[in-house]
Amino acid sequence: MKAKNKVKSGFIDVVVGLQWGDEGKGKNIDELLSHGAYTGVARFHGGANAGHTIKLGDKTFVGHIVPSGCFHKNIELYIGNGVVVDAVSLIKEKNEIKNLGFDITKRLYVSNRAKLVSHLHPFLDQADEYRRNKLGTKVGTTSRGIGPAYSDVRARRALLVGDVLSPDFAEKEVTLSEFHMNLLNMYQDKYGFEINLGKIKEAKEKWDDAIKELRKLQICDLSLLIQSRLSKGKNILAEGAQAIMLDIDFGDYPNVTSSNTLPANVCLGLGVPHTMLRDVYGVIKAYTTKVGGGNFPSRMKDQTLEKAFQDAGHEFGATTGRPRMCGWLDLFALRHAIVLSGANKIFINKADICLSDKIKVVTGYKSKGKIVKEFPLYLSDVADVITEEMPGWGDANYGINKKQKTSKELSSYLKYIKGKLSDLNVKIISVGTGPDRDHFFNWEK
Ligand code: GDP
Ligand code: IMO
Ligand code: MG
Repeated sequence: MKAKNKVKSGFIDVVVGLQWGDEGKGKNIDELLSHGAYTGVARFHGGANAGHTIKLGDKTFVGHIVPSGCFHKNIELYIGNGVVVDAVSLIKEKNEIKNLGFDITKRLYVSNRAKLVSHLHPFLDQADEYRRNKLGTKVGTTSRGIGPAYSDVRARRALLVGDVLSPDFAEKEVTLSEFHMNLLNMYQDKYGFEINLGKIKEAKEKWDDAIKELRKLQICDLSLLIQSRLSKGKNILAEGAQAIMLDIDFGDYPNVTSSNTLPANVCLGLGVPHTMLRDVYGVIKAYTTKVGGGNFPSRMKDQTLEKAFQDAGHEFGATTGRPRMCGWLDLFALRHAIVLSGANKIFINKADICLSDKIKVVTGYKSKGKIVKEFPLYLSDVADVITEEMPGWGDANYGINKKQKTSKELSSYLKYIKGKLSDLNVKIISVGTGPDRDHFFNWEK
Protein backbone atom coordinates (compact mmCIF):
# COMPACT_ATOMS: atom_id res chain seq x y z
CA MET A 1 0.00 0.00 0.00
CA LYS A 2 1.35 3.46 -0.89
CA ALA A 3 1.96 5.87 2.00
CA LYS A 4 -0.19 8.97 1.58
CA ASN A 5 1.41 12.46 1.46
CA LYS A 6 4.82 11.07 2.25
CA VAL A 7 7.36 13.89 1.94
CA LYS A 8 10.53 12.89 0.14
CA SER A 9 13.49 13.18 2.50
CA GLY A 10 15.90 16.04 2.03
CA PHE A 11 19.64 15.54 1.56
CA ILE A 12 22.95 17.01 2.62
CA ASP A 13 25.51 18.30 0.13
CA VAL A 14 28.97 19.16 1.38
CA VAL A 15 31.58 21.71 0.35
CA VAL A 16 35.21 20.83 1.06
CA GLY A 17 38.56 22.34 0.17
CA LEU A 18 40.66 20.00 -1.99
CA GLN A 19 44.04 21.66 -1.39
CA TRP A 20 45.58 23.10 1.81
CA GLY A 21 42.74 25.49 2.72
CA ASP A 22 41.73 29.02 1.70
CA GLU A 23 40.45 27.92 -1.70
CA GLY A 24 37.51 30.33 -1.48
CA LYS A 25 34.99 28.00 0.17
CA GLY A 26 33.23 30.90 1.91
CA LYS A 27 32.48 32.64 -1.38
CA ASN A 28 31.21 29.46 -3.04
CA ILE A 29 29.03 28.52 -0.07
CA ASP A 30 27.52 32.01 0.04
CA GLU A 31 26.69 31.64 -3.67
CA LEU A 32 25.33 28.09 -3.41
CA LEU A 33 22.95 29.27 -0.68
CA SER A 34 21.49 31.98 -2.88
CA HIS A 35 19.40 29.69 -5.12
CA GLY A 36 16.83 28.42 -2.61
CA ALA A 37 18.00 24.78 -2.78
CA TYR A 38 19.06 24.68 0.87
CA THR A 39 17.41 25.84 4.09
CA GLY A 40 20.45 25.54 6.34
CA VAL A 41 24.23 25.45 6.42
CA ALA A 42 26.24 23.49 8.98
CA ARG A 43 29.80 23.51 10.25
CA PHE A 44 30.66 19.92 11.20
CA HIS A 45 34.31 20.02 12.31
CA GLY A 46 37.18 22.36 13.14
CA GLY A 47 36.79 25.61 14.98
CA ALA A 48 37.83 29.24 14.71
CA ASN A 49 41.02 28.19 12.89
CA ALA A 50 38.95 28.61 9.70
CA GLY A 51 38.73 31.97 7.96
CA HIS A 52 36.02 32.05 5.29
CA THR A 53 35.74 35.30 3.38
CA ILE A 54 32.41 36.59 2.09
CA LYS A 55 31.90 39.84 0.24
CA LEU A 56 28.81 41.86 0.96
CA GLY A 57 28.81 44.73 -1.50
CA ASP A 58 31.91 46.74 -0.66
CA LYS A 59 32.22 45.10 2.77
CA THR A 60 34.37 42.04 3.43
CA PHE A 61 33.44 39.67 6.23
CA VAL A 62 35.60 36.80 7.50
CA GLY A 63 33.71 34.04 9.30
CA HIS A 64 35.76 31.87 11.60
CA ILE A 65 33.03 29.89 13.29
CA VAL A 66 29.66 31.22 12.13
CA PRO A 67 28.67 29.27 8.99
CA SER A 68 28.89 31.14 5.68
CA GLY A 69 25.14 31.60 5.32
CA CYS A 70 24.92 34.56 7.70
CA PHE A 71 23.95 37.01 4.94
CA HIS A 72 20.98 34.95 3.73
CA LYS A 73 18.04 35.80 5.97
CA ASN A 74 16.17 32.52 5.32
CA ILE A 75 19.09 30.20 5.96
CA GLU A 76 19.47 28.46 9.31
CA LEU A 77 22.99 28.30 10.70
CA TYR A 78 24.14 25.16 12.49
CA ILE A 79 27.25 24.47 14.56
CA GLY A 80 27.52 20.71 14.89
CA ASN A 81 28.78 18.41 17.64
CA GLY A 82 32.05 17.86 15.73
CA VAL A 83 33.06 21.51 16.11
CA VAL A 84 35.26 22.87 18.90
CA VAL A 85 33.48 26.09 19.78
CA ASP A 86 35.46 29.21 20.56
CA ALA A 87 32.76 31.16 22.41
CA VAL A 88 34.69 34.44 22.23
CA SER A 89 34.97 34.24 18.42
CA LEU A 90 31.35 33.13 18.10
CA ILE A 91 29.93 36.05 20.07
CA LYS A 92 32.28 38.55 18.44
CA GLU A 93 31.26 37.39 14.97
CA LYS A 94 27.59 37.35 15.82
CA ASN A 95 27.91 41.02 16.84
CA GLU A 96 29.90 41.91 13.72
CA ILE A 97 27.19 40.32 11.58
CA LYS A 98 24.55 42.29 13.50
CA ASN A 99 26.43 45.50 12.77
CA LEU A 100 26.24 44.60 9.10
CA GLY A 101 22.44 44.49 9.43
CA PHE A 102 21.85 40.76 9.99
CA ASP A 103 20.61 39.52 13.35
CA ILE A 104 21.27 35.76 13.36
CA THR A 105 20.04 35.10 16.92
CA LYS A 106 16.89 33.27 15.85
CA ARG A 107 18.46 31.18 13.10
CA LEU A 108 21.69 30.10 14.81
CA TYR A 109 21.65 26.67 16.50
CA VAL A 110 24.57 25.19 18.43
CA SER A 111 24.79 21.49 19.25
CA ASN A 112 24.76 20.75 22.97
CA ARG A 113 27.28 18.01 22.14
CA ALA A 114 29.82 20.38 20.56
CA LYS A 115 32.92 20.88 22.70
CA LEU A 116 34.18 24.17 24.12
CA VAL A 117 37.55 25.71 23.41
CA SER A 118 38.66 26.83 26.87
CA HIS A 119 40.43 30.11 27.59
CA LEU A 120 43.66 28.17 28.14
CA HIS A 121 43.59 26.09 24.95
CA PRO A 122 45.19 28.81 22.80
CA PHE A 123 48.00 29.14 25.38
CA LEU A 124 48.54 25.38 25.32
CA ASP A 125 48.60 25.54 21.53
CA GLN A 126 51.35 28.17 21.68
CA ALA A 127 53.23 26.24 24.36
CA ASP A 128 53.31 23.08 22.28
CA GLU A 129 54.42 25.00 19.21
CA TYR A 130 57.18 26.50 21.36
CA ARG A 131 58.27 22.97 22.31
CA ARG A 132 58.09 21.76 18.71
CA ASN A 133 60.00 24.75 17.43
CA LYS A 134 62.98 23.65 19.46
CA LEU A 135 62.80 20.26 17.77
CA GLY A 136 62.35 21.83 14.32
CA THR A 137 58.90 20.28 13.94
CA LYS A 138 56.64 23.33 14.33
CA VAL A 139 53.22 22.79 12.71
CA GLY A 140 52.56 26.51 12.30
CA THR A 141 49.09 26.31 13.83
CA THR A 142 46.64 29.18 13.87
CA SER A 143 47.09 29.45 17.69
CA ARG A 144 43.33 29.04 18.11
CA GLY A 145 43.70 26.14 20.55
CA ILE A 146 42.45 23.54 18.10
CA GLY A 147 44.95 20.75 18.86
CA PRO A 148 44.61 21.02 22.67
CA ALA A 149 40.79 21.25 22.40
CA TYR A 150 40.55 18.05 20.33
CA SER A 151 43.10 16.37 22.66
CA ASP A 152 40.70 17.05 25.53
CA VAL A 153 37.81 15.67 23.48
CA ARG A 154 39.64 12.38 22.86
CA ALA A 155 40.81 12.21 26.48
CA ARG A 156 37.18 12.72 27.57
CA ARG A 157 37.79 15.74 29.76
CA ALA A 158 36.44 18.50 27.46
CA LEU A 159 33.58 20.80 28.40
CA LEU A 160 30.46 20.37 26.26
CA VAL A 161 28.53 23.36 24.99
CA GLY A 162 25.53 21.83 26.79
CA ASP A 163 27.48 21.99 30.06
CA VAL A 164 27.14 25.77 30.17
CA LEU A 165 23.49 25.27 31.13
CA SER A 166 24.18 22.89 33.98
CA PRO A 167 24.60 24.02 37.63
CA ASP A 168 28.01 22.39 38.03
CA PHE A 169 29.56 24.14 34.99
CA ALA A 170 31.75 26.46 37.10
CA GLU A 171 33.09 23.49 39.05
CA LYS A 172 33.85 21.52 35.86
CA GLU A 173 35.56 24.54 34.37
CA VAL A 174 37.78 25.03 37.44
CA THR A 175 38.84 21.36 37.38
CA LEU A 176 39.77 21.58 33.68
CA SER A 177 41.57 24.90 34.09
CA GLU A 178 43.64 23.48 36.96
CA PHE A 179 44.64 20.61 34.71
CA HIS A 180 45.53 23.04 31.91
CA MET A 181 47.59 25.21 34.26
CA ASN A 182 49.53 22.11 35.34
CA LEU A 183 50.27 21.42 31.70
CA LEU A 184 51.35 25.01 31.13
CA ASN A 185 53.64 24.81 34.17
CA MET A 186 55.15 21.66 32.72
CA TYR A 187 55.82 23.50 29.43
CA GLN A 188 57.42 26.31 31.44
CA ASP A 189 59.57 24.07 33.66
CA LYS A 190 60.64 21.61 31.01
CA TYR A 191 60.81 23.70 27.85
CA GLY A 192 61.11 27.30 29.04
CA PHE A 193 57.73 28.45 27.70
CA GLU A 194 56.89 31.74 29.37
CA ILE A 195 53.49 31.87 31.08
CA ASN A 196 51.97 35.34 30.87
CA LEU A 197 49.51 35.53 33.78
CA GLY A 198 48.26 38.96 32.73
CA LYS A 199 47.23 37.67 29.29
CA ILE A 200 45.66 34.58 30.82
CA LYS A 201 43.57 36.74 33.19
CA GLU A 202 42.45 38.91 30.28
CA ALA A 203 41.53 35.81 28.23
CA LYS A 204 39.53 34.37 31.13
CA GLU A 205 37.52 37.57 31.55
CA LYS A 206 36.65 37.63 27.85
CA TRP A 207 35.82 33.94 27.94
CA ASP A 208 33.50 34.33 30.97
CA ASP A 209 31.65 37.17 29.22
CA ALA A 210 31.30 35.08 26.07
CA ILE A 211 29.98 32.07 28.00
CA LYS A 212 27.24 34.30 29.47
CA GLU A 213 26.22 35.26 25.92
CA LEU A 214 26.51 31.66 24.71
CA ARG A 215 23.90 30.63 27.30
CA LYS A 216 21.39 32.92 25.55
CA LEU A 217 21.83 31.15 22.20
CA GLN A 218 19.76 28.23 20.93
CA ILE A 219 21.69 25.27 22.33
CA CYS A 220 19.98 22.05 21.30
CA ASP A 221 20.21 18.44 20.20
CA LEU A 222 21.26 19.50 16.71
CA SER A 223 21.30 15.98 15.31
CA LEU A 224 17.57 15.70 16.06
CA LEU A 225 16.88 19.16 14.66
CA ILE A 226 18.71 18.45 11.40
CA GLN A 227 17.03 15.05 11.04
CA SER A 228 13.66 16.70 11.51
CA ARG A 229 14.45 19.28 8.81
CA LEU A 230 15.58 16.49 6.44
CA SER A 231 12.44 14.46 7.16
CA LYS A 232 10.41 17.48 6.02
CA GLY A 233 12.20 17.43 2.66
CA LYS A 234 14.59 20.29 3.44
CA ASN A 235 18.16 20.21 2.15
CA ILE A 236 21.22 21.26 4.07
CA LEU A 237 24.68 22.31 2.99
CA ALA A 238 27.60 21.12 5.13
CA GLU A 239 30.49 23.57 5.27
CA GLY A 240 33.95 22.05 5.34
CA ALA A 241 36.74 24.00 6.95
CA GLN A 242 40.45 23.59 6.19
CA ALA A 243 40.85 21.05 3.39
CA ILE A 244 41.50 17.43 2.47
CA MET A 245 45.30 17.88 2.54
CA LEU A 246 44.97 19.01 6.17
CA ASP A 247 42.90 15.98 7.26
CA ILE A 248 44.30 14.48 10.44
CA ASP A 249 44.35 10.95 8.99
CA PHE A 250 44.97 11.52 5.30
CA GLY A 251 46.98 14.75 5.21
CA ASP A 252 50.71 15.13 5.64
CA TYR A 253 50.73 14.15 9.34
CA PRO A 254 51.70 15.90 11.61
CA ASN A 255 51.43 19.02 9.41
CA VAL A 256 47.67 18.84 9.52
CA THR A 257 44.78 20.15 11.58
CA SER A 258 43.27 18.10 14.42
CA SER A 259 40.00 17.05 12.82
CA ASN A 260 38.87 14.94 9.88
CA THR A 261 38.11 17.23 6.99
CA LEU A 262 36.79 14.46 4.74
CA PRO A 263 33.08 14.52 3.83
CA ALA A 264 32.67 11.23 5.72
CA ASN A 265 33.00 13.31 8.88
CA VAL A 266 29.76 15.16 8.08
CA CYS A 267 27.85 12.16 9.45
CA LEU A 268 29.80 12.11 12.72
CA GLY A 269 30.09 15.87 13.10
CA LEU A 270 26.36 16.48 12.70
CA GLY A 271 24.86 13.16 13.78
CA VAL A 272 23.25 12.06 10.51
CA PRO A 273 23.34 8.75 8.64
CA HIS A 274 25.58 8.46 5.55
CA THR A 275 22.51 7.81 3.40
CA MET A 276 21.66 11.51 3.69
CA LEU A 277 24.80 12.64 1.85
CA ARG A 278 24.52 13.55 -1.83
CA ASP A 279 26.94 15.80 -3.74
CA VAL A 280 30.45 16.69 -2.69
CA TYR A 281 31.54 20.10 -3.98
CA GLY A 282 35.33 20.33 -4.02
CA VAL A 283 36.92 23.77 -4.09
CA ILE A 284 40.34 24.55 -5.57
CA LYS A 285 42.31 27.55 -6.71
CA ALA A 286 43.83 27.71 -10.19
CA TYR A 287 47.13 27.51 -8.30
CA THR A 288 47.84 26.30 -4.74
CA THR A 289 48.59 27.98 -1.42
CA LYS A 290 49.62 26.69 1.97
CA VAL A 291 50.31 28.19 5.39
CA GLY A 292 52.24 26.43 8.12
CA GLY A 293 54.89 23.73 8.37
CA GLY A 294 55.74 20.74 6.20
CA ASN A 295 56.90 20.28 2.63
CA PHE A 296 54.91 22.00 -0.09
CA PRO A 297 56.01 20.21 -3.26
CA SER A 298 54.45 22.51 -5.85
CA ARG A 299 55.80 25.71 -4.27
CA MET A 300 57.08 28.22 -6.83
CA LYS A 301 60.86 28.17 -6.89
CA ASP A 302 61.08 31.76 -8.09
CA GLN A 303 60.52 33.87 -4.96
CA THR A 304 59.76 37.01 -6.94
CA LEU A 305 56.99 35.16 -8.75
CA GLU A 306 55.65 33.77 -5.48
CA LYS A 307 55.60 37.28 -4.02
CA ALA A 308 53.75 38.54 -7.07
CA PHE A 309 51.06 35.83 -6.62
CA GLN A 310 50.82 36.67 -2.92
CA ASP A 311 50.26 40.32 -3.70
CA ALA A 312 47.88 39.89 -6.62
CA GLY A 313 45.88 37.14 -4.90
CA HIS A 314 45.99 38.83 -1.47
CA GLU A 315 47.43 35.61 -0.14
CA PHE A 316 47.57 36.50 3.54
CA GLY A 317 45.81 34.29 6.09
CA ALA A 318 42.22 35.31 6.84
CA THR A 319 42.73 34.10 10.44
CA THR A 320 46.37 34.86 11.22
CA GLY A 321 47.43 37.36 8.54
CA ARG A 322 50.47 35.17 7.73
CA PRO A 323 51.65 35.21 4.10
CA ARG A 324 50.53 32.07 2.29
CA MET A 325 53.16 30.15 0.33
CA CYS A 326 52.17 29.95 -3.34
CA GLY A 327 52.64 27.00 -5.64
CA TRP A 328 51.42 25.75 -9.01
CA LEU A 329 48.27 23.70 -9.30
CA ASP A 330 49.27 20.30 -7.92
CA LEU A 331 47.34 17.72 -9.94
CA PHE A 332 49.01 14.81 -8.18
CA ALA A 333 47.74 16.01 -4.78
CA LEU A 334 44.41 17.06 -6.30
CA ARG A 335 43.70 13.59 -7.71
CA HIS A 336 44.49 12.14 -4.27
CA ALA A 337 42.07 14.61 -2.64
CA ILE A 338 39.30 13.93 -5.18
CA VAL A 339 39.58 10.17 -4.74
CA LEU A 340 39.54 10.46 -0.93
CA SER A 341 36.69 12.94 -0.75
CA GLY A 342 34.51 11.62 -3.56
CA ALA A 343 34.17 15.19 -4.85
CA ASN A 344 32.01 15.17 -7.97
CA LYS A 345 31.56 18.90 -8.60
CA ILE A 346 34.52 21.25 -8.69
CA PHE A 347 34.79 25.00 -8.19
CA ILE A 348 38.02 26.57 -9.49
CA ASN A 349 38.69 29.97 -7.92
CA LYS A 350 41.26 32.66 -8.59
CA ALA A 351 41.38 32.02 -12.33
CA ASP A 352 41.94 35.77 -12.62
CA ILE A 353 45.32 35.51 -10.89
CA CYS A 354 47.87 34.55 -13.49
CA LEU A 355 50.81 36.86 -13.76
CA SER A 356 53.36 35.12 -15.85
CA ASP A 357 53.15 34.56 -19.57
CA LYS A 358 53.46 30.87 -18.74
CA ILE A 359 51.60 28.82 -16.14
CA LYS A 360 52.88 25.55 -14.72
CA VAL A 361 51.12 22.51 -13.35
CA VAL A 362 52.57 19.74 -11.20
CA THR A 363 51.70 16.31 -12.60
CA GLY A 364 53.89 14.05 -10.47
CA TYR A 365 56.34 13.76 -7.59
CA LYS A 366 59.89 12.44 -7.50
CA SER A 367 61.57 10.84 -4.54
CA LYS A 368 65.12 9.47 -4.47
CA GLY A 369 65.38 10.08 -8.19
CA LYS A 370 62.29 7.97 -8.98
CA ILE A 371 58.78 8.95 -10.02
CA VAL A 372 56.39 8.35 -7.12
CA LYS A 373 53.38 6.20 -8.05
CA GLU A 374 51.21 6.57 -4.97
CA PHE A 375 50.68 9.55 -2.73
CA PRO A 376 53.55 9.34 -0.21
CA LEU A 377 53.20 8.86 3.53
CA TYR A 378 55.69 11.67 4.13
CA LEU A 379 55.63 14.72 1.87
CA SER A 380 59.12 15.44 3.20
CA ASP A 381 60.29 12.54 0.99
CA VAL A 382 59.31 14.48 -2.14
CA ALA A 383 62.51 15.98 -3.48
CA ASP A 384 61.29 17.25 -6.82
CA VAL A 385 58.20 17.50 -8.98
CA ILE A 386 57.31 16.91 -12.61
CA THR A 387 55.74 19.94 -14.24
CA GLU A 388 54.01 20.80 -17.47
CA GLU A 389 53.83 24.32 -18.82
CA MET A 390 51.32 26.23 -20.91
CA PRO A 391 50.58 29.81 -21.91
CA GLY A 392 49.34 32.13 -19.16
CA TRP A 393 46.70 34.85 -19.49
CA GLY A 394 47.79 37.73 -17.25
CA ASP A 395 44.80 39.58 -15.81
CA ALA A 396 42.62 39.06 -18.90
CA ASN A 397 39.87 37.20 -17.04
CA TYR A 398 39.37 39.40 -13.98
CA GLY A 399 35.71 39.81 -13.08
CA ILE A 400 34.26 38.06 -16.12
CA ASN A 401 30.97 36.28 -15.46
CA LYS A 402 30.25 34.67 -18.81
CA LYS A 403 31.93 31.55 -20.19
CA GLN A 404 31.98 33.08 -23.68
CA LYS A 405 34.25 35.88 -22.44
CA THR A 406 36.98 33.50 -21.22
CA SER A 407 40.38 34.12 -22.80
CA LYS A 408 41.52 31.29 -25.04
CA GLU A 409 44.49 30.54 -22.73
CA LEU A 410 42.25 30.12 -19.65
CA SER A 411 39.85 28.07 -21.72
CA SER A 412 42.69 25.74 -22.74
CA TYR A 413 43.88 25.55 -19.12
CA LEU A 414 40.40 24.48 -17.95
CA LYS A 415 40.14 21.88 -20.71
CA TYR A 416 43.61 20.63 -19.81
CA ILE A 417 42.63 20.17 -16.14
CA LYS A 418 39.38 18.49 -17.16
CA GLY A 419 41.40 16.12 -19.38
CA LYS A 420 43.76 15.25 -16.53
CA LEU A 421 40.78 14.35 -14.33
CA SER A 422 38.80 12.62 -17.08
CA ASP A 423 38.97 9.18 -15.42
CA LEU A 424 37.41 10.58 -12.24
CA ASN A 425 33.73 11.33 -11.92
CA VAL A 426 34.07 15.12 -11.71
CA LYS A 427 32.62 18.16 -13.39
CA ILE A 428 34.20 21.60 -13.22
CA ILE A 429 31.01 23.52 -12.60
CA SER A 430 32.20 27.02 -11.83
CA VAL A 431 35.22 29.25 -12.32
CA GLY A 432 35.98 32.19 -10.00
CA THR A 433 37.38 35.36 -11.54
CA GLY A 434 37.50 37.73 -8.56
CA PRO A 435 36.46 38.10 -4.91
CA ASP A 436 33.00 39.60 -5.49
CA ARG A 437 29.78 37.63 -5.37
CA ASP A 438 29.26 37.88 -9.14
CA HIS A 439 32.88 37.22 -10.11
CA PHE A 440 32.42 33.73 -11.54
CA PHE A 441 31.01 31.88 -14.52
CA ASN A 442 29.49 28.44 -14.91
CA TRP A 443 31.66 26.14 -17.00
CA GLU A 444 30.20 22.61 -17.16
CA LYS A 445 26.55 21.74 -16.67
P1 GDP B 1 38.24 29.84 2.42
O1 GDP B 1 38.93 29.67 3.73
O2 GDP B 1 38.34 28.64 1.55
O3 GDP B 1 36.84 30.35 2.54
O4 GDP B 1 39.06 31.00 1.63
P2 GDP B 1 39.62 32.37 2.27
O5 GDP B 1 38.48 33.28 2.52
O6 GDP B 1 40.54 32.10 3.40
O7 GDP B 1 40.54 32.86 1.10
C1 GDP B 1 40.06 33.05 -0.18
C2 GDP B 1 40.41 34.50 -0.60
O8 GDP B 1 40.28 34.61 -2.00
C3 GDP B 1 39.46 35.52 -0.03
O9 GDP B 1 40.17 36.72 0.15
C4 GDP B 1 38.41 35.69 -1.12
O10 GDP B 1 37.78 36.97 -1.09
C5 GDP B 1 39.25 35.55 -2.36
N1 GDP B 1 38.62 34.95 -3.54
C6 GDP B 1 37.71 33.95 -3.61
N2 GDP B 1 37.48 33.62 -4.90
C7 GDP B 1 38.27 34.43 -5.65
C8 GDP B 1 38.53 34.55 -7.05
O11 GDP B 1 37.98 33.83 -7.89
N3 GDP B 1 39.44 35.51 -7.43
C9 GDP B 1 40.09 36.32 -6.53
N4 GDP B 1 40.96 37.21 -6.98
N5 GDP B 1 39.87 36.21 -5.21
C10 GDP B 1 38.99 35.28 -4.78
P1 IMO C 1 40.15 27.55 6.10
O1 IMO C 1 38.88 26.87 6.53
C1 IMO C 1 44.51 27.23 5.77
C2 IMO C 1 46.53 25.04 8.97
C3 IMO C 1 47.47 25.86 9.82
C4 IMO C 1 48.48 24.80 10.21
C5 IMO C 1 47.61 23.55 10.39
C6 IMO C 1 47.21 23.26 11.82
O2 IMO C 1 40.12 29.03 6.19
O3 IMO C 1 40.59 27.03 4.77
P2 IMO C 1 45.44 24.36 13.49
O4 IMO C 1 45.30 25.77 13.99
O5 IMO C 1 44.25 23.83 12.77
O6 IMO C 1 45.91 23.43 14.56
O7 IMO C 1 46.67 24.44 12.42
O8 IMO C 1 46.44 23.77 9.61
N1 IMO C 1 45.15 25.57 8.89
C7 IMO C 1 44.68 26.21 7.82
N2 IMO C 1 45.29 26.59 6.67
N3 IMO C 1 43.19 27.47 5.95
C8 IMO C 1 42.56 27.04 7.07
O9 IMO C 1 41.23 27.10 7.23
C9 IMO C 1 43.32 26.44 8.09
N4 IMO C 1 43.03 25.96 9.32
C10 IMO C 1 44.16 25.43 9.79
O10 IMO C 1 48.05 26.91 9.08
O11 IMO C 1 49.36 24.56 9.15
MG1 MG D 1 40.46 30.57 4.86
